[in-house]
Amino acid sequence: MGIRAEAPAQTAMTALWRRRQMLLGLVGGRCEACGTAQFPRMDICVNPGCGALRTQQDYEFADVPATIKTFTADLLAVSVDPPHCYGMIQFDGGGRFMADFTDCSKEDLKVGLPMRMVFRKRSQDRERGFVNYFWKAAPVPGARERMNQIRFDGQVAVVTGAGGGLGRAYALELACRGARVVVNDFGGARDGAGSGDSSPADLVVEAIRRMGGEAVANYDNVATVEGGENIVKRALDAFGSVDILVNNAGILRDKSFTKMEPDAWDAVMAVHLDGAYHVTRPAFAVMKKKGYGRIVMTTSAAGLYGNFGQANYSAAKMALVGLMNTLKLEGAKYDIRINTVAPLAASRLTEDILPPDMFRKMKPELVAPLVVYLCSHRCSETGAIFNTGMGCVNRAVVMTGPGAAIGNLAHPPTPEQIHENWDRINAMQGAKPLPDLTSALMDLMTPAP
Ligand code: NAI
Repeated sequence: MGIRAEAPAQTAMTALWRRRQMLLGLVGGRCEACGTAQFPRMDICVNPGCGALRTQQDYEFADVPATIKTFTADLLAVSVDPPHCYGMIQFDGGGRFMADFTDCSKEDLKVGLPMRMVFRKRSQDRERGFVNYFWKAAPVPGARERMNQIRFDGQVAVVTGAGGGLGRAYALELACRGARVVVNDFGGARDGAGSGDSSPADLVVEAIRRMGGEAVANYDNVATVEGGENIVKRALDAFGSVDILVNNAGILRDKSFTKMEPDAWDAVMAVHLDGAYHVTRPAFAVMKKKGYGRIVMTTSAAGLYGNFGQANYSAAKMALVGLMNTLKLEGAKYDIRINTVAPLAASRLTEDILPPDMFRKMKPELVAPLVVYLCSHRCSETGAIFNTGMGCVNRAVVMTGPGAAIGNLAHPPTPEQIHENWDRINAMQGAKPLPDLTSALMDLMTPAP
């Protein structure tokens, strides 16, 4: 009897109803002493480190952005407004509580999903004809899609040769998705001639800023050691780190092989191969220290498969695959993933090479998605080569066939035996990619019977 007399006369819901402010504005409290927000408002601060008494000020949760901290979705949840999903809501700036979820199915839910509070039917008393309303949490429209988006918020990307063509498309897409970008471009002619021009990089930086992104320009030449160091320094000075590097800068000096003078050979090697070395080395050091990095090298079908008149370019571009093959091993334990792309796109490099009809269809924007994916934390691939253009992507692999054991130390193979076994040596049935030199060695030491 005594206990009944002390118990509150109203149920929890009617108490909330009477304190309309709490119900209609979802007003809880915020401790004046430590700033902890809580719902419902109480005399004692919920922060165990504070515990202050009667320091609560009104604090309206109704419009505070929130995210899902934990959730469950089963038929045990009490809800007349399905689905039966509920969980812990974490409010920006502090405060969390259990809420029923609405306007969603359990497939929509994800820890971290942005939620907003909505006032909805909570329960119904059919006998007495009452309907109770209270606040529920609903996913913010479009939040699920945005959460699934590959984003680079808080990351720093360096794109070389980003003043035009493909590099520009990469820089714009990375910035659009939240990366802070160093737009490097020396601004020379297609063959690398000239003393440089700052406008290509500046224009891309302007475009990024216009769409609300963050970027800085750099005009260094990747073909020099100092150039590479300055590009990475620019990223460190402006943004404090480097998470992503796209080695993209490139030139062409095509000639049939006997007409290819050393200056054409050297210039192409310097920009493509030395350039990737000069920029990757300081960037790799930063990535190693932080235990994270994504690097994309740019090769070419000319290097992977050959192209008449491009001996210098083919050699430089294939050398980048070799560089990747070793860096994938050296970067593995630091979560540095490095892949290579062979793009096909309309740019000043290809304007007189591709037929006009094809040229129109080959937008750099159709290559950028693969590169952006390879730059993301979702990409766990490393050491791979991809051809991409016109919206298609395929993988290129160096395969090793099973081969033939023809001789040994006691009976070295003769050239005649090589000739006799030519078909077996060349057979590619059962061929496989090999991850490193050691595997290649093991393969030779333990040939198929
Ligand atoms: P692009 O000529 O439009 O862009 C290359 C950019 O690199 C230019 O803005 C140029 O100023 C810059 N650059 C050149 N030398 C530089 C240096 N030393 N330092 C800093 N920046 C420098 O050409 P595109 O087509 O966008 O080429 C990008 C990359 O893709 C190149 O590595 C190219 O070899 C490669 N590639 C392109 C293909 C295509 O179909 N467009 C095919 C295969 C490979």
